[in-house]
Amino acid sequence: MSITCKTPQEIEKMRVAGRLTAEVLDYITPYVKSGVTTGELDQLCHDYIVQVQGCIPAPLNYAPPGYKPYPKSICTSINHQVCHGVPGDRQLKNGDIVNLDVTVISNGYHGDSSRMFQVGETSVQARRLCEVTYDCLWLGIVQVRAGAHLGDIGHAIQQHAEKSGYSVVREFCGHGIGAKFHEEPQVLHYGRPHTGIELKAGMVFTIEPMINAGKAAIRTMADGWTIVTKDHSLSAQWEHTILVTDTGYEVLTMSEATALRPDWIRSQP
Ligand code: MF3
Ligand code: CO
Ligand code: CO
Repeated sequence: MSITCKTPQEIEKMRVAGRLTAEVLDYITPYVKSGVTTGELDQLCHDYIVQVQGCIPAPLNYAPPGYKPYPKSICTSINHQVCHGVPGDRQLKNGDIVNLDVTVISNGYHGDSSRMFQVGETSVQARRLCEVTYDCLWLGIVQVRAGAHLGDIGHAIQQHAEKSGYSVVREFCGHGIGAKFHEEPQVLHYGRPHTGIELKAGMVFTIEPMINAGKAAIRTMADGWTIVTKDHSLSAQWEHTILVTDTGYEVLTMSEATALRPDWIRSQP
């Protein structure tokens, strides 16, 4: 398999899928409160995607090789959970941080985005981790343009995470996306500048750094899906779906209420 550059027709469908994905995250935001269960958040997103948007939640029954089918429609990863947390009966409580990861299939094309949410009053450490991880995402995004290399993205993310005293999870990465949920290339969140493949206009992939407050090591829970930090330190993640353009990037997973690029982070001319 190889990396596909999307046609203008495909790009238009991915813009729609991306916006719908962001709108699910906007929709669920007011429900992310102390006392709600992750299962309730999953059900609300599922119903919104299926009944309001007329779309398909990509995670439901998704079964990559070596995994059993994912049983829910979104991922909910709390505190030391790194990613792929499976929604259930657990109630969010004051002080939790939680990542909601949403992937929508619209007209055959995927949009994939995740955000961190703070439940009530969170610790200074938790807030800083979420903010640094958000900056890592955007420091990666602004590297994107035709002619740049994948390693430029990973390097920018790794530098900022490690300078901040955090570590980058190695086992999971961003990914090409289109008619398939996960396709080539793998977008590592660490690396060296000017290494890896050269980006071409029309490529679409996610950037989704997972940053741990402690060590990088992870482990998989008995459910076969939920990933946690081995040292139980907090972990955060943000994700966008990005189109490579001749002059830079277009963030496809944008909506009215999507958080903006931090002012201090810009593409270098
Ligand atoms: N949305 C995740 C990603 O960003 C993948 C989740 S796979 C699932 O790549 F099966 F757990 F939903
Ligand atoms: Co993704
Ligand atoms: Co995702």
